[in-house]
Amino acid sequence: MDGKDEFRLDGKVALVTGGARGIGAESARVLAAAGASVLVTDVLSAVGKETTEAISAAGGTAAYRDLDVTREEEWVATVEETVATFGGFDVLVNNAGIEVVKEIADTSHDEFRRITAVNVDGVFLGCKHAVIAMRPGGRAGRGGSIINISSVAGMIGVPWLSAYGATKGAVRKLTKDVAVECGRLGYGIRCNSIHPGVVETVLAESFFRKNQALTGAASLDDVKSAFTAVHPIG
Ligand SMILES: NC(=O)c1ccc[n+]([C@@H]2O[C@H](COP(=O)([O-])OP(=O)(O)OC[C@H]3O[C@@H](n4cnc5c(N)ncnc54)[C@H](O)[C@@H]3O)[C@@H](O)[C@H]2O)c1
Repeated sequence: MDGKDEFRLDGKVALVTGGARGIGAESARVLAAAGASVLVTDVLSAVGKETTEAISAAGGTAAYRDLDVTREEEWVATVEETVATFGGFDVLVNNAGIEVVKEIADTSHDEFRRITAVNVDGVFLGCKHAVIAMRPGGRAGRGGSIINISSVAGMIGVPWLSAYGATKGAVRKLTKDVAVECGRLGYGIRCNSIHPGVVETVLAESFFRKNQALTGAASLDDVKSAFTAVHPIG
């Protein structure tokens, strides 16, 4: 065993939300490369289908389905389809997310409600329906792993990210509670949150641009350099 075998996922079934592009698409690619069958879900059908085609072309097993994470009935149907298509449900990556980059004084209540719907309700519904399916006696019934994509902004204070940071802090706490509850109940389900720094995706590009406008930085490169400098590995 070269150590990499520990990370094989042959025979496992994974569902990734917001998997059409960015961190979600890369998560789907890596899960498939490790041997998992992956259901990629998103609200961007065309991009999502391209992502699954690329995974299949590289020898992986993947399918695409629309899933708006804010809609509970779509979660129920998606979990059903995951088990029906691939014969199980072992890994959920709750990755779908949106951002608001604004001073709190300029953030409308509707914007706060919308980001909470996607980033918090979406993760709550994902955890809920994954637990129902993965726990003993559930539709899949063999335990599993739930991975919630939070953010470093869910742990530290960041200017112009109060709405976003509140949602990511909520994800961090929800994750801990789901984890200890599943442990206490002996469900065989782990629940962990990941707190990335800045990863260059469509979301981050928009974050850089808004940051430049808000701070009056001379160039986008200056903004990127400032963020690069606070990441331990650059
Ligand atoms: N990029 C970063 O620097 C960074 C840092 C920390 C955390 N994150 C988190 O990582 C996750 C992915 O971010 P990304 O940078 O890849 O962003 P992205 O915008 O490239 O991708 C997000 C995906 O989520 C999808 N999505 C949005 N609303 C949805 C909904 N209601 N239902 C289903 N899908 C929906 C989008 O269509 C998109 O495909 C997010 O939760 C984000 O908050 C990103």
